[in-house]
Amino acid sequence: MHPVEITDGVYWTGAQDPDLRIFDVIMHAPRGTTYNSYLVQGKQRNALIDVVKASFTGPFLENLGRLIDPASLDYVVVNHTEPDHSGALAAVIETTGSAQLVCAKNARRFVEGLLNRDVGPMQVNEGDELDLGDRKLRFIIAPFLHWPDTMFTYLEPDGILFTCDFLGAHYADERLFNDQVDDYSHEFRYYFDIIMRPFKSYVLEALDKIEALDITMICPSHGPILREKVDYYLRCYRDWASQPTPDAEKRLLVFYASSYGNTARLGEEIAAGAREAGMSVGIFDLNATKPEAVVDAIEAADAVAVGSLTINGDAVKPVWDLLSSLATLNLRGKVAASFGSFGWSGEAPKFIAQRLGDLKMKVLGEPVRAQLVPTAEDLAACRDLGRQIGQAVAAKT
Ligand code: FEO
Repeated sequence: MHPVEITDGVYWTGAQDPDLRIFDVIMHAPRGTTYNSYLVQGKQRNALIDVVKASFTGPFLENLGRLIDPASLDYVVVNHTEPDHSGALAAVIETTGSAQLVCAKNARRFVEGLLNRDVGPMQVNEGDELDLGDRKLRFIIAPFLHWPDTMFTYLEPDGILFTCDFLGAHYADERLFNDQVDDYSHEFRYYFDIIMRPFKSYVLEALDKIEALDITMICPSHGPILREKVDYYLRCYRDWASQPTPDAEKRLLVFYASSYGNTARLGEEIAAGAREAGMSVGIFDLNATKPEAVVDAIEAADAVAVGSLTINGDAVKPVWDLLSSLATLNLRGKVAASFGSFGWSGEAPKFIAQRLGDLKMKVLGEPVRAQLVPTAEDLAACRDLGRQIGQAVAAKT
């Protein structure tokens, strides 16, 4: 796709990747994606904002050459160094010769890691400006959206905000603008859930920083450019990133996978102990529960207990499917426990506990394990674990 002038002297010069179906291993992309790059031409200087994935380097440089002599490029602004936006950076630096790379301070180590050499990037701080002549770029440091390096670039007087991943979506459409493409609200929300949701507090901080700006257009680096209902999209992010009002009632969610009902029995006893400690409890059989249906509930819960039988020395797939779905949630400090019945080895509860700990949850004591049919002692240990969960949750408040 050739470059498109999105307003006087500002060009989309990215790449469309409509056939992509899985992004970064973790995301479905049924409508493909785009790697948006933008060229801003000032009266005296020009700047390229973000580049594209390495595999699109050839067409990208060709397109850039349609707009300017690459040797005349003054600045390459790197809002984010993840390779889908910086894979072509080495080739761009080489082709343009003397262009100055511009990035946030936090991005320098990533830039060096990408290029394996020090290109002496200009490291900008909050509010720093680059004068392009008749227009200027102002930098807004917006870390952890979703890497430590991220920043926004604001073009004055045009009022265009370049946000890289923030407010983006995996959605390829050559019509480019949100008022021209079909409804992509599902992709917009899915992108937030997977990429921005773990960083809700940073999302809110960034929204506060840009609240006073006069924004006419938002140019993210994936998906459509937002030039209509800009406030609506900003409001969506604010709503989604705002913490849910905590329930007065503390809540435990118990998940289990069980072949013969033994692990289920342990889970029920943990639930009973937690209820005795004043908690409300939800119990889910993972053989009949899709992880995506419960992630919101997990994020809102105060505690989680996960149980699995052991097969071939491991927890079973429905359990791992759940655990691998939790990486995008902020679970730090949530109370957690694991349990499971087993035949002769019983490693599953230990592996589950490790994973819950890796997710920064506060894992209580040793996992409860029961060989085959739980004994009265096993059930008592589970009931006690449920009470401990209740007490640990109460101690946090
Ligand atoms: Fe689209 Fe974080 O890269």
